[in-house]
Amino acid sequence: MGTYRWKTAVITLSDKGYRGERTDESGPAVRDMLPEEEYEVREIIVLPDEQGLIEQELIRLSDEERMDLILTTGGTGFSERDCTPEATLAVATRNAQGIADAMRYYSLQITPRAMLSRAVSVIRHKTLIINLPGSPKAVRENLSFILPSLLHGLGILKGTDGECARS
Ligand code: MTE
Repeated sequence: MGTYRWKTAVITLSDKGYRGERTDESGPAVRDMLPEEEYEVREIIVLPDEQGLIEQELIRLSDEERMDLILTTGGTGFSERDCTPEATLAVATRNAQGIADAMRYYSLQITPRAMLSRAVSVIRHKTLIINLPGSPKAVRENLSFILPSLLHGLGILKGTDGECARS
């Protein structure tokens, strides 16, 4: 499986981005963080903060497109319209809370406002879904911390990495 590249989708949640009132910098920031030899970013989508739509896309990308990884950015804060965690939890088949915990733990060392991220991380069947905060800066900070461990998690989820004990 040395040459396998993880099939990845990126979803930006932003009403303004969806309406074309703001250029999406966060989706491309996610893509730019992912090493090309390890991740194949197949789709970058911008959606409004509509829970039903987000759930539909998460289900399509997991069940039909068989993505290994879906990274969302935005919609994790306290604004009335922010509903990314709710949509993500609604499609989860298993919890994978440690990733979101790790991001908050790391981010709190950068800004106390990290406590305001309601991001969650879950598994839907064979797909790992992780919420990232909305700003490109927060995307880079959060992803840089979790990326080194992500490959092992994806490998276990797919059944190609069986051993945790060695590392
Ligand atoms: N995490 C990191 N590493 N760096 C940041 O700048 N911003 C925080 C938080 N997490 C931030 C961060 C802020 S200000 C908010 S409101 C929440 O993420 C939620 O962001 P969102 O509403 O854009 O999803």
